[in-house]
Amino acid sequence: MVDKIGNILAKDYGLDRPVEQKSFYVKGAEHCDWGMKDRLARIFDPKSGRTVMLAFDHGYIMGPTAGLERLDLAIPPLAPYADVLMATRGAIKSCVPPTFNKAIALRCTTDTSVLHEDLSYGHVGVDVEDAIRLNASCIVVQTFVGSKNEVGSFKNLSDMINAGNRYGIPVMGVTAVGKEMERTKRYFQLATRILAELGAQVIKTYYCEGFEEVTAACPVPIVIAGGKKTPEKEVLEMAYNAIRDGAAGVDMGRNIFQSENPAAMLRAVRAVVHENASAEEAYDLFLSLK
Ligand code: 5RP
Repeated sequence: MVDKIGNILAKDYGLDRPVEQKSFYVKGAEHCDWGMKDRLARIFDPKSGRTVMLAFDHGYIMGPTAGLERLDLAIPPLAPYADVLMATRGAIKSCVPPTFNKAIALRCTTDTSVLHEDLSYGHVGVDVEDAIRLNASCIVVQTFVGSKNEVGSFKNLSDMINAGNRYGIPVMGVTAVGKEMERTKRYFQLATRILAELGAQVIKTYYCEGFEEVTAACPVPIVIAGGKKTPEKEVLEMAYNAIRDGAAGVDMGRNIFQSENPAAMLRAVRAVVHENASAEEAYDLFLSLK
């Protein structure tokens, strides 16, 4: 019960210290609500301003991908080195202990499987309420800019942005690349800018030549996907170049969990993203840890 008498008198008002006015460090998020900023701060490390997301959502279209045959065995040793775990609700609920207490990027679209002739069809399969129940720091929506179904995928994105805005949950729009889509600066500039203007607070895309003009033209942070498994040295070079060119981090899957030493690779990528390590320094770290 609140006491009316015997309380210590309030007197330390710090009259010589004006309230500090800070701007929020995540690109484009200055005018977001507190809850949205809190979630973005769980994704983007307040010290470096960047993020290392571990993507292991591949099973939702590819089945048991190499390296992810057993999520319960693959993910726990990697989780300590990731800022964010990006996955489907099925994977998270069944294989990620809530005690990890990591930021979750929840894939909320259901897309066509790799067996389907057209990979560009998807719909929103996860309610925002389920994202809240999973304490998601971010909702992930796949889009297919330039495909037959681009409008459908923009609707999925807009629906989830509307829902995310209601509850303060940022949305990460993913620019998927199909077989027939270009992987040029022009394409990625167009795709990332469209998703940002639709209201996505974070964009996931692919690295390309001239990437600094992709990040410059995008008003919100961009993280890069890793793509197909490539030698570790090359991946670290790509990560370094992406950060140098303005990426706010990575959201990598196959190049981590299909590496000959996934934990060492994740730690090497971390050194590039958070500690400004060069690709050579990061590769040396990988070799020393593996
Ligand atoms: C595809 C996706 C993924 O399923 C996944 O996250 C890709 O990661 P990676 O290319 O690094 O294996 O977002 O658009």
